[in-house]
Amino acid sequence: MAITLAFDVYGTLIDTHGVIVALEKHVGDRASEFSRTWREKQLEYSFRRGLMQNYENFAVCTANALDYTSSFFRVPFSHEDKQVLLEAYSVLPAFADVEEGLARARESGFRIFAFSNGSAVAVEGLLKNAGIKDYFLGVVSVDEMKSFKPNPAVYSHFLRRAGAIGSNAWLVSSNPFDVIGAISSGMRAAWVKRSPDAVFDPWGIEPTVTVNSLLDLAEQISREHGES
Ligand code: 2OP
Repeated sequence: MAITLAFDVYGTLIDTHGVIVALEKHVGDRASEFSRTWREKQLEYSFRRGLMQNYENFAVCTANALDYTSSFFRVPFSHEDKQVLLEAYSVLPAFADVEEGLARARESGFRIFAFSNGSAVAVEGLLKNAGIKDYFLGVVSVDEMKSFKPNPAVYSHFLRRAGAIGSNAWLVSSNPFDVIGAISSGMRAAWVKRSPDAVFDPWGIEPTVTVNSLLDLAEQISREHGES
């Protein structure tokens, strides 16, 4: 059976800190810190909405998290400023290793999907803007389930939509909560350690493989299947 890859989008293929340049205009040298808080709040809001069963599109989590971060940093934004920042979020850049990593995965015969908290429209726009959309057989969004990662239901939904089974399907993500969620739901998972300082959650559940770059992904996954 062919191997299926579910690529996480924000933080794995697409660099959410691509907004730093746009933020510098407002917060100067605090732009990195602002971007990190914005991203952490965005994810926290998705977790809470999932738990509360109070689903809204991921873009709402992003916009609410921007409002929170603006208050937290005591930097008031005009309506127009916010629109510009949210617009920047819809054209974020891909990481440098992404295109070649996807090309190697395709050459290895893997079935490639994007699997994201973002809506299908938002994700398709990002992939298109980054020039990598054609590598994907499809986009699977949690929006179809009205919940968020790491609800086990969204990983099962991915498998159904991709026509895959867990033992032959890999989540590829830089987000430890996503890796743990996928493994808990019966998938395999590659953790993309995007920074040397990144720490994996000490829950006693380890990634099936860890890669520092997507350039190593296809080889590592092929090796795992060769050995099993
Ligand atoms: C994504 O689903 C978790 O933000 C991450 O794209």
